[in-house]
Amino acid sequence: MTLRLASAGESHGPGLVAILTGLPAGLTLDRDAIDADLRRRQEGYGRSPRQRIEQDRVEVLAGLRHGRTLGTPLALVVWNRDHDNWKWGMSPWPPEGDPVGKGTKPVTLPRPGHADLAGVLKYGHADVRDALERASARHTAVHVAAGSVAKALLATIGIAVSGGTVDEPGLQARIDEARADRDTVGGIVEIRATGVPPGLGTYAAKEDRLDGRLAAAVMGIQAVKGVEIGDGFALARLRGSQAHDEIGPDRRRSTNRAGGLEAGMSNGEEIVVRAAMKPLPTLMKPLASVDLVTGEPGEALVERSDVAAVEALAVVAEAAVAWELAVSARDKFGGDATVDFVAAHQAYLARIAWR
Ligand SMILES: Cc1cc2nc3c(=O)[nH]c(=O)nc-3n(C[C@H](O)[C@H](O)[C@H](O)COP(=O)(O)O)c2cc1C
Repeated sequence: MTLRLASAGESHGPGLVAILTGLPAGLTLDRDAIDADLRRRQEGYGRSPRQRIEQDRVEVLAGLRHGRTLGTPLALVVWNRDHDNWKWGMSPWPPEGDPVGKGTKPVTLPRPGHADLAGVLKYGHADVRDALERASARHTAVHVAAGSVAKALLATIGIAVSGGTVDEPGLQARIDEARADRDTVGGIVEIRATGVPPGLGTYAAKEDRLDGRLAAAVMGIQAVKGVEIGDGFALARLRGSQAHDEIGPDRRRSTNRAGGLEAGMSNGEEIVVRAAMKPLPTLMKPLASVDLVTGEPGEALVERSDVAAVEALAVVAEAAVAWELAVSARDKFGGDATVDFVAAHQAYLARIAWR
């Protein structure tokens, strides 16, 4: 059995749901640690006032008893407090009574850079909101909760994952300037994982390569347009003699240009993944668009929005990397029970110990 994650939820719907299957039984979860990650996702300079309405907390509906996993599907929920303002507009069932609150009028002016245009064409929607509500990054909240669970599993075998923004001088000033110009910005984040043993992932099948899985998971996050592992794009300009990490007598490397991954496997060094985020597409000074009903030129939808979400991306990408590492670790070490998972890891370390 492998680890799997399915999620559901719209940005202004009642809530966000994730179902995690394949978790070993007997894993201790800490509610405060999950909520702390949810809080970290909401913080950061440049976020919209929405973050003051939501104060995300995880609720568990199934798969946990007295703080320990049961080995059965784990169901997580994060409620959208803002749904109170969208009860009519985002009612799952045909709403009763007169339209009231937000989201009552159809959106017909798609935003360049968002899901709006291709989303309505693909699914045959008349209202752009039917596409944008799920495309929005709001549901990354429940993915961060799932990432927290993954980090708890990884911690049992000594793996730690952390994410942050890549230092950029004057980041806050750049955001302030963009806000004043009614514009948005992007940025770069970096995720590191320590304690990863060599041999997670494989070269045997491309869908199981750990580098590919990490890149897909991070690229799958909204607004990410570039992912690199280790020195990534810069390696293309180097000679082989400068680009690879020589192997010392203790099997360790004095450099880590490969970012801890060779041939689709972890190599025992720190895993380093970087992601580039584009400037957010919802602009207070909207770009040109077309009204999908009248065919007339117009200005794209303006909706409450972040000016920057780079710090939030660091938390979301940390969760994505943690999840993929947990999947690879679960595939390698198996275990219906957490003790079996830990014992298999120990046995593996003993087998590969330097002779
Ligand atoms: C944490 C986070 C917060 C985001 N917040 C916003 C936002 O407030 N406004 C916006 O227009 N886009 C926001 N985005 C980006 C859009 O969701 C994304 O650009 C859009 O879904 C189109 O997908 P793509 O950029 O991957 O092509 C956010 C992304 C992330 C990861």
